[in-house]
Amino acid sequence: MKNTTGNILVIFGATGDLASRKIFPALNEIRKSNKIPKNFHVLGCGRKKVTKSVFHKLSTNLIDNANYIKLDPYVESDYDLLSYNIEKFKKIYSTTNVIYYLSTPPSAYEPLVKSLIKKKLNIENSGYRRIIIEKPFGKDLKSSKNLNKILIKGFKEKQIFRIDHYLGKETVQNILVSRFTNFIFSALWSKDHISYVEITAAESIGIEGRGEYYDGTGAIKDMFQNHLLELLCLVAMEEPNKNSPESIRNEKINVLKKIRKLNFQEDIIRGQYTASKTKLKKFINYTDNKGVDKTSKTETFFACKLFIDNKRWKDVPFFIRTGKRLATKVTEIVVNFKKNINVFSPNNETNMLIFRLQPDEGMVVKFNLKNPGEKSIINKNLEFHYKNLGEDIIDDAYETLILDVFKGNTMLFSRSDFVEKAWKIVDPIINEINNNKVKLYGYKAGTWGPKKCDDLFRNENTWRYPCKNLVNDGEICEL
Ligand code: BG6
Repeated sequence: MKNTTGNILVIFGATGDLASRKIFPALNEIRKSNKIPKNFHVLGCGRKKVTKSVFHKLSTNLIDNANYIKLDPYVESDYDLLSYNIEKFKKIYSTTNVIYYLSTPPSAYEPLVKSLIKKKLNIENSGYRRIIIEKPFGKDLKSSKNLNKILIKGFKEKQIFRIDHYLGKETVQNILVSRFTNFIFSALWSKDHISYVEITAAESIGIEGRGEYYDGTGAIKDMFQNHLLELLCLVAMEEPNKNSPESIRNEKINVLKKIRKLNFQEDIIRGQYTASKTKLKKFINYTDNKGVDKTSKTETFFACKLFIDNKRWKDVPFFIRTGKRLATKVTEIVVNFKKNINVFSPNNETNMLIFRLQPDEGMVVKFNLKNPGEKSIINKNLEFHYKNLGEDIIDDAYETLILDVFKGNTMLFSRSDFVEKAWKIVDPIINEINNNKVKLYGYKAGTWGPKKCDDLFRNENTWRYPCKNLVNDGEICEL
């Protein structure tokens, strides 16, 4: 196979929201940092008729490097035009490689993939062919299996790049490095020293004009099935044999396999936000959003307590929560260590390790020391903020992921068996919900979700209530 540098990047759904919010800005950043391959060209495709100048504006002026053709994923003859254009630009830009980026609504994945295969646009007789797919990968186990089946008819696993953008975040990639390269953490990383772990992905925004998508999806499928289970695996997995995509992905799967069947009655909390008014802001009910059914029972908040039944984690609870219109925007993982009762203090505070994924990215270790001049003990922070390494030190997740597709590195992408295993965990929860066996609690927009969520701890502990600033916490903080 002749493998030149550069590539033709075909973006389906090129006039859509994801392309303008994430893909084009990322490509432009890549270009600014001179990392864009020399022989590179964007071929945007979409159902709309768009003039060259409008498309250049949409693609944030990738200038000569972008063209647009009208293509309806459901119209087979449109792919002949695509094929013609790919050949044309391959010649002009002296490249043989092609990447297909599916940035369309998921309903278009099936016709798109089938047509690419039918028209032999997947064949690697010259250069590589890669395909990028955005989550959600299906809406349950059955549909995700079906999607994988269609994909593998024409593409090998190493050609498929399933984007879960959390994996592209620098701070998420740091979890494994910090865990395994610091003996002070790795030596303590088990049930013997850790009492519980919290994973929070809170958003202050609502559903931002995505009513129709969100109402058919909800927090469990939108965030838990993918981003949060990925984070859980990174915190809980064993050390991989090698620093290679397959070894790491294998260890993640091993975590999913050991998740204990959830206690649906007691260990799951669902919520939906309701209208509220603060001094600064006024929020409407979730059900008053455009595209949302007035009687909708879709959850905008989800929390659960789960266990991993293996030697390392036996009976250590993992508390996970996510929601829209919560008190602040924050994603973090808190590892709570066991109490260290000793002669100096019968009841001291515990150690805590916090991975702050966003915002104010960094890490904190809470530790005890003697209160100077007193007999008592105080709990203080050892803190690190990425911003101290320099401005703009953290690339956007999409920049990282797109560059990895160019390089053919699958490490930060979801493998098909992960996606299917994750649905195996989620499907039974959805079944219980569909059988009306899981309550839906209301919570006021701008708060930390349903009060009932604290019951997951059975009075033994409580959530950390993080603020924007990494080292602050408390239910009330400056937000
Ligand atoms: C997306 C979800 O995958 O992740 C959105 O579909 C959510 O609903 C977003 O807002 C959160 O991403 P981030 O990077 O802002 O935490």
